[in-house]
Amino acid sequence: HTDPKLAQKQAVAKSALAYIEDGMILGVGTGSTVNCLIELLPQVRLKGAVASSQVTEDKLRALGIEIFDLNAVGELDLYIDGADEIDAHGNMIKGGGGALTREKIVAVASKRFVCMVDDSKTVAKLGKFPVAVEVLPQARSYVARELVKLGGEPVYREGFVTDYGNVILDTYDLDITDPAELESTLNNIVGVVCNGIFASQSAHIMLKAGDDGVSTVKF
Ligand code: A5P
Repeated sequence: HTDPKLAQKQAVAKSALAYIEDGMILGVGTGSTVNCLIELLPQVRLKGAVASSQVTEDKLRALGIEIFDLNAVGELDLYIDGADEIDAHGNMIKGGGGALTREKIVAVASKRFVCMVDDSKTVAKLGKFPVAVEVLPQARSYVARELVKLGGEPVYREGFVTDYGNVILDTYDLDITDPAELESTLNNIVGVVCNGIFASQSAHIMLKAGDDGVSTVKF
């Protein structure tokens, strides 16, 4: 069936092309919005890309775009990705697709993060969308108990394994009054690999698709 937001995703992806420069190695995110961007990439002259997930990597390769290892290329100029929620400061929740760790690694290694969303994803306060917490498999139950102590309600994403062989606890009901603080608190739980709050790696630019086109917000 068709995605009701598809036209908006295509519009916002098209507007993201303006940030891409000739000869760039582009950091490419993951998700249905990024998939719209990937389809447009043959229109620009990239040197290549660093992929934030296996799915993205496969799609890029299928278009003949060269994939680089992040360790071989140094700092990237630009990372483009979607988000599940974004606030007025550019803090985001990501990880609906489960690629959060690799996304955060490519984001932190990039000078600029351009986030593409539709207007249903902008929020005054993060947290309606659950925070994905990527956990080493053996620590799953311990981490779940710690998340409950923090007021969260972790749900094991059954049947899902991350690109790194770990599991995900989708955690509802966390109070995200201070995104940076909660991001770091979650990272301090032993066994946690990464979490879906992107405050330390917040967006620099948001491209937001709405009924009357795409607007740009700089943070
Ligand atoms: C992938 O792990 C996520 O962080 C995505 O960036 C997020 O889920 C946005 O995906 P859509 O563009 O499909 O909404």
